[in-house]
Amino acid sequence: MSSTIKQAFTNMTANAKVADLSRDTVEVTKSTGLTTDHGVPVSNTDDWLKVSNGQNAGPSLLEDQIAREKIHRFDHERIPERVVHARGAGAHGYFKVFDDRAKKYTSAGVLTDPTRTTPTFVRFSTVQGSRGSADTVRDVRGFATKFYTDEGNWDIVGNNIPVFFIQDAIKFPDFVHAVKPEPHNEVPQGQSAHNNFWDFVGLQPEASHMVMWAMSDRGIPRSYRMMQGFGVNTFTLINAAGERYFVKFHWIPELGVHSFVWDEALKIAGQDPDFHRKDLEEAITNGAPPKWTFAIQTIAEKDEHNFEFDILDATKLWPEELVPLEPIGEMVLNRPVDEYFPETEQVAFCTSHVVPGIGFSDDPLLQGRNFSYFDTQISRLGLNWEQLPINRPVCPVMNHNRDGQHQMRITKGPVNYWPNRFQHGPPVAKEQGGYHEFAQRIEGIKQRARGEKFKEHYNQAQLFYNSLAPHEKAHVLSAMSFELSHCDDPLVYESYSRVLNNIDFDLAKNVATNKPGRLNKGQKSDTLSQAYYAPKTPTIASRRIAILIADGFSGNEVQAVRAALKSAGAVPFLIGPRRGKIYPAGQTVGAGEGIMADHHFEGQRSTLFDALFIPSGREAAESLVSNGRCIHWVREAFGHLKALGAIGEGVAVLQRALELSELQFSSGDSTDVTSSYGVVTTGKYTASSMISDALKIGPGEKGILANFSYEVSKHKCWDRELDGLVSKVAF
Ligand code: HEM
Repeated sequence: MSSTIKQAFTNMTANAKVADLSRDTVEVTKSTGLTTDHGVPVSNTDDWLKVSNGQNAGPSLLEDQIAREKIHRFDHERIPERVVHARGAGAHGYFKVFDDRAKKYTSAGVLTDPTRTTPTFVRFSTVQGSRGSADTVRDVRGFATKFYTDEGNWDIVGNNIPVFFIQDAIKFPDFVHAVKPEPHNEVPQGQSAHNNFWDFVGLQPEASHMVMWAMSDRGIPRSYRMMQGFGVNTFTLINAAGERYFVKFHWIPELGVHSFVWDEALKIAGQDPDFHRKDLEEAITNGAPPKWTFAIQTIAEKDEHNFEFDILDATKLWPEELVPLEPIGEMVLNRPVDEYFPETEQVAFCTSHVVPGIGFSDDPLLQGRNFSYFDTQISRLGLNWEQLPINRPVCPVMNHNRDGQHQMRITKGPVNYWPNRFQHGPPVAKEQGGYHEFAQRIEGIKQRARGEKFKEHYNQAQLFYNSLAPHEKAHVLSAMSFELSHCDDPLVYESYSRVLNNIDFDLAKNVATNKPGRLNKGQKSDTLSQAYYAPKTPTIASRRIAILIADGFSGNEVQAVRAALKSAGAVPFLIGPRRGKIYPAGQTVGAGEGIMADHHFEGQRSTLFDALFIPSGREAAESLVSNGRCIHWVREAFGHLKALGAIGEGVAVLQRALELSELQFSSGDSTDVTSSYGVVTTGKYTASSMISDALKIGPGEKGILANFSYEVSKHKCWDRELDGLVSKVAF
């Protein structure tokens, strides 16, 4: 490689992609006057040129090239949406490895050079729904990462679930047709709760493992920022000595893995269909950029056949007890997009895009994907899709591919083929960084067949189910029951109950029929429950906390609570009976300085927040207690297992709303803190309570905020559900 190219490579930083995009970025301001697309200033963009006597309209003239251009451009604004994963949200970030420990597996600079900061772009998505569907539906989530490396773009096109529904790519069109809206009426949107999906997976038992994941809490994540990501397919790594390892890629979120409860997800789909999209941007702009640890699982080539499952079968994971995870780096997403369409919509991923040191395996799902993505990008974006700003690499690109629609590069020089008499555009030797395929020995008979071990479908579905915490198991049961109750064809219901019987008799029995099932072998793996990923240090960073107020609330408390929560990285919101000024005790309503409520009780619902807090104030509490919507807020937040906190008279609002003898509350003037089923209360919050309430988040702390924050950090109070409290409250 020439020294100039090398220099260009060395200059790369995390900002390389931002700088690259700036070449195509313009800003619309007061001083950027309107022009046509060919640059001519436009003096009137409101009236089509017409024949008029000044009084009546008269016919519009086709000769108006300014109006014509505006309408033409508008008529063609839409492009085909993605055939799957149409709905998504993206952000820019960077990736860094901790050190060069992965050198034993790979020569890829992006995975071994700790001096590099590689720019990334991530697009998260749902799978089933169309581009305008809701974010919080039950579905698999896409987690596609583009690494703009020094040696070209590398894409990990993954999901938030480590396995897939099918083993062989040839089944993908069948699977997608079955899960998408049904062909006769294009229903339902954004969900798998329909006959065709359950019909297909009932007849295709290889889907049983992934169905369990999709029906678990993984199918309704609280945030894209709180999901694991998995490359799913088995790739390979090749080290400098030419040795090959099989590899699986993992992303582990710093904030833990958290989900909604189903009622919450259903309601948010209507109340705020853009919830996840907004959540990602809100966290980044509020200074809580999401972060993931990147880890790999590797298997040496010689050990390929040492497992009871086939390591190239995408319906199987590699249990971490057998193949431990090795954390090697981290990714931070720290910049929202400037414009959705040219970045998030036009970004295009390909599993076939790898860089030297990374390769493929014979995973039959991956092999088909490697064909499919490039092909589909041509239909969605056109042949030259890799020249679009968001897709183009930040390293030099040079070859003899030419022309096609929307060619944007002008390549100088007399030849566009190789070999040529000038030696222009020569191949790069392996020693100088050229991509080199691993020399793999292959022998066999050409046939349409799958490996022997691909025929076992239930062991890992059972392993996953067994590994879930009790509340997670209960959620799988209710998710299955919900989905299957939407299938009005009894054949479908029966067929899936038979599949479940092979996973867990009790589960199948509870979902439907009562037939003896296959023996549950009882195997478990700690790492499959979401509970395993709780952050090591409890945190409330980026958590949305609603503080409910009404005229007469305690101004000092609200100030103190807001400041403390903010300082711990949470995002507090004031919610009141009106979106306007609310007046604290001691101020005259309508005349005092007041404080602006961010929302009113009707404008936002409890579903959109992680926790709820009610300060003291006699008048405020009286008004909140008599407000039916406020009572509903409290009940709903309780039903959705969220942390609830209150001080003084605010405690009475919780008591009145919940009316549960199992709950304990602080009473009267006591400064003691009572924590009961995630409901944290104190009678009084004095200046000295504030001082002793250092916001150290953890159990056994004294102050109300420390205790409340600890409950928030746990995300949900599962005991409330397991002990039957939730079913006693109407919400
Ligand atoms: C391991 C299994 C799979 C995973 C993890 C996966 C993941 C994804 C993700 C994350 C996207 C969205 C990319 C984006 O954000 O733009 C996507 C899109 C897509 N996938 Fe897959 N997929 C899998 C299997 C397949 C298979 C087997 C095929 C075809 C044989 C396929 C074909 C497609 C197509 C055509 C798109 C639309 C791409 C676009 O228009 O940009 N996928 N997939």
